[in-house]
Amino acid sequence: MSMSLVTLLYLVASVCFIQALKGLSHPTTSIRGNVFGMSGMAIAVLTTIALIHGQARALNIDFGTGIAYVLVALVVGGGLGAFMANKVEMTKMPELVAFMHSMIGLAAVFIAVAAVAEPWAFSITPAPVAAAIGSVTANGAVLIDGVLRYAIPTGNRLELFLGAAIGAITFSGSVIAFGKLSGKYKFRLFQGASVQFKGQHKLNLVLGLLTLALGLLFVATESWTAFFAMLALAFVMGVLIIIPIGGADMPVVVSMLNSYSGWAAAGIGFSLNNAMLIIAGSLVGSSGAILSYIMCKAMNRSFFNVILGGFGGEATTAASGAKEQRPVKSGSADDAAFVLSNAETVVIVPGYGLAVARAQHAVKELAQKLTDKGITVKYAIHPVAGRMPGHMNVLLAEAEVPYDQVFEMEDINGEFGQVDVAIILGANDVVNPAAHTKGSPIYGMPILEAYKAKTVIVNKRSMAAGYAGLDNELFYMDKTMMVFGDAKKVVEDMGKAIE
Ligand code: TAP
Repeated sequence: MSMSLVTLLYLVASVCFIQALKGLSHPTTSIRGNVFGMSGMAIAVLTTIALIHGQARALNIDFGTGIAYVLVALVVGGGLGAFMANKVEMTKMPELVAFMHSMIGLAAVFIAVAAVAEPWAFSITPAPVAAAIGSVTANGAVLIDGVLRYAIPTGNRLELFLGAAIGAITFSGSVIAFGKLSGKYKFRLFQGASVQFKGQHKLNLVLGLLTLALGLLFVATESWTAFFAMLALAFVMGVLIIIPIGGADMPVVVSMLNSYSGWAAAGIGFSLNNAMLIIAGSLVGSSGAILSYIMCKAMNRSFFNVILGGFGGEATTAASGAKEQRPVKSGSADDAAFVLSNAETVVIVPGYGLAVARAQHAVKELAQKLTDKGITVKYAIHPVAGRMPGHMNVLLAEAEVPYDQVFEMEDINGEFGQVDVAIILGANDVVNPAAHTKGSPIYGMPILEAYKAKTVIVNKRSMAAGYAGLDNELFYMDKTMMVFGDAKKVVEDMGKAIE
């Protein structure tokens, strides 16, 4: 295959990836986005295989054995990926993503190690040749045991160092993020609570500087020892950056590690002189960084604190505080159904609890019954409701809730004052008016202003706090009725009561 055809196909694949990102930005176009993504990846993989085939033929190298390994890896890796993605529950998605990022990081490390060991196999240098002692050595080539080995150009060494270091940090950081998110393991570093010790930031700084120094030593000398020492430190740094972050804040970290994994791939792409890897890596790197920023903004977190690995402590501390007992008005599902039946406008606010209870289908049926009675029903979506970006959109799309009933926070907040009933299902922080109070840990976080509705119905199982560990004034308001119980059961009972 000619190089111009390869370039053209890579360009087509890149356009597909950009279209994929564009499509995934809205539920109505997400399937198209996924199709673009898969097509782009298929074109990229097939083109790369054709490219390697051409290079192997030109160099007279056996292509069959190498491609057999690649195909086995594709089938095993692809099969495992498909199995895991099919099996995973929506609330466990951030864990799966963390696991996948760890694999990308590790892949970047393996490629870098292989490229440093045999740079000629990646066309970084000419192949070593047998040479007689005393023959002229050029271009930094060294004669060892009768073999002339060419040095890796300085620019490539720098790219390999960066790709390997970022890959190693991404790998170990993602493993810790995975452990914290799953909450299944006893190992202390996998616990949700943050791990902090004296001088942690100073240690991180020293390790960072040492990693940089060793990397530059490798760039200057191509020393294996410096390269491996640098890699070892980068693995340790990945762990140290993530352990101080509370498990509950992990989704932001996962998105940040997503960004790192993209940059690691882009760095390796420069070394391998592969435009596709550079473009795909940069797209992942920049979109991950933008997503992290959006999430931080929606949660009122500082982006730099996340990058420096030092936030999340507040949430854990707040959660552990003792809570005073205060009276609330509570009612049954039947009471709530009666209130809903007498409304003209109802806004449903879904939250994390709705996802846990998998009550989306029951909610859709309830909404349908209300609509059939002539009641206007809308859904209000907070950007960080649930535990991953777009969590509520995906959940409602799964139940085939019509998109024209689903409204983003900024589009619906102005309407709450005229709404008869706001029904909050398994949401807490995203409707907590404490966000308007100076000094509150969530001060400044934009919220759905459900407290402005004429009547508020809240369904959750208890008075337990939400993700940020804070009490919610909304639950104690005169116009609020708490309906305790699992969201699925409560919503189904409400639906039965509305005939
Ligand atoms: P939360 O504040 O976590 O509140 C969820 C509520 O659901 C809890 O108070 C819980 O109360 C209730 N619940 C749990 N299981 C339930 C069930 N089976 N049936 C009924 N209720 C149930 O959720 P939210 O309002 O969606 O806010 C999301 C939070 O996650 C925000 O603080 C956000 O910053 C954070 N966060 C989000 C993301 C993204 S990207 N979405 C990423 C990181 C962090 P009970 O235990 O009393 O039932």
